Amino acid sequence: MTGPAALRLGVVGAGGFATFLSGALRDLPDVTVTVVADPDTDRAGRLAGTLAARAVADWQALVAADDVDVVVVATPPARHAETTLAALRAGRHVFSEKPLATTEDDAIAIRDAVAATGRVLVVDHVLRYNPVLRALARLRGPRFAAPSGCPLLGPVRRLAFENDASDEDLGPEHWFWDERVSGGIFVEHGVHFFDAADALIGATPDSVQGILGQRPGSSLVDLAVATTRYPNGALATFAHGFSHAHRCERQLMRIDFGAAEARVTGWIPVRATINLWTDDAGAALVEHLPARAGELLAVDGHRLRDPAVTVLVHRHAGPAPARERGRPRELPHRCRITLDLGGEAAKPYVYAESVRAAMHDLVRCVRTGERPAASITEGVRAVTVAAAAAHSARDDRTVHLGQYPEHHTVCTS
Ligand SMILES: NC(=O)c1ccc[n+]([C@@H]2O[C@H](COP(=O)([O-])OP(=O)(O)OC[C@H]3O[C@@H](n4cnc5c(N)ncnc54)[C@H](O)[C@@H]3O)[C@@H](O)[C@H]2O)c1
Repeated sequence: MTGPAALRLGVVGAGGFATFLSGALRDLPDVTVTVVADPDTDRAGRLAGTLAARAVADWQALVAADDVDVVVVATPPARHAETTLAALRAGRHVFSEKPLATTEDDAIAIRDAVAATGRVLVVDHVLRYNPVLRALARLRGPRFAAPSGCPLLGPVRRLAFENDASDEDLGPEHWFWDERVSGGIFVEHGVHFFDAADALIGATPDSVQGILGQRPGSSLVDLAVATTRYPNGALATFAHGFSHAHRCERQLMRIDFGAAEARVTGWIPVRATINLWTDDAGAALVEHLPARAGELLAVDGHRLRDPAVTVLVHRHAGPAPARERGRPRELPHRCRITLDLGGEAAKPYVYAESVRAAMHDLVRCVRTGERPAASITEGVRAVTVAAAAAHSARDDRTVHLGQYPEHHTVCTS
């Protein structure tokens, strides 16, 4: 018996990320690339040649082609909306590189087109498909709760993402620096982390503040910081500085769960360390985590290689009674949990597998009618928050977000 036919992909844009993405999908049997479009015909030809696909110069010809089921949008951001809208209206499913669009209006137009056409759209928010972040979200949910129903990790109170990123490959002519093409740092890059924070916190922000910094002696904006507030009282800050040599790149995500703190390293997370104080039920849950490593780290379509969940439980490390936020707690046991996908060396593999898992999700949803993890909802929301951060920085005021999905942003001082 043969399975369903592979979905035929048309890749629009044959640059750096399209090349990486095509490599990541190479052994995903559910998809095959049939066409590559790029006005730079050398690039289109080179990528198509490695995939046994044909090359065209014109993206509209690709969207109209009979042998394309899914349009992969991998052009610079300002071109995403027009291509995505045309693809949806031509009846194609869409795998959109992030950001979904560079403006909230365009993102909402795409949302309306997805609703009208019933096509599946996945936005390549790779962090939604990262096993470490998936595990952290699970540890504050019901699956890893004590018999009393109390989850191992409390709700997120604060999240801070520090991203000292490299500009070594971003010469002054690169489209990244042109806000009309990239949407600016919050939109081009920040969307990944606004969306990851939503997944970790389990809520979406109700207000946003942004501030931007310029390279000394230049008008080039290379530092962007945003703070978001969530209806459950959590706050998050996101700092992105594209001003470092490759060798000086460093990223840290710190998440405060009250009695627990998680530190995640790498912008593609490959390792997390959680230090926590807990009660008897919590210590028992921690002790069982290594045996549940597969369940904890599972992401459909992401093939884990050498995952390790290690724990250290120091029972009765302190007196049991404690107080936080005015409430008594029993916290006698100190624990450490480490989630490891293979350390820094595993980053390219984990990155590629996350892209693979995102495409696997699209295929699954085309076949089942279910909703992807990084759907149009997440795509629109991330663009909305990013655009609000940029808006806030420009106008020097807090931006309050209306209730999704009707949110056009409302500015108040
Ligand atoms: N998901 C991720 O982790 C991730 C990582 C890096 C980049 N990206 C995204 O991927 C996209 C592409 O980035 P990149 O680094 O590959 O850029 P790039 O500049 O290397 O490549 C872009 C390509 O698009 C082509 N192009 C421009 N206009 C076109 C059009 N109208 N039709 C067809 N092709 C066109 C260009 O000629 C170029 O070859 C961006 O949206 C970027 O944000 C995502």
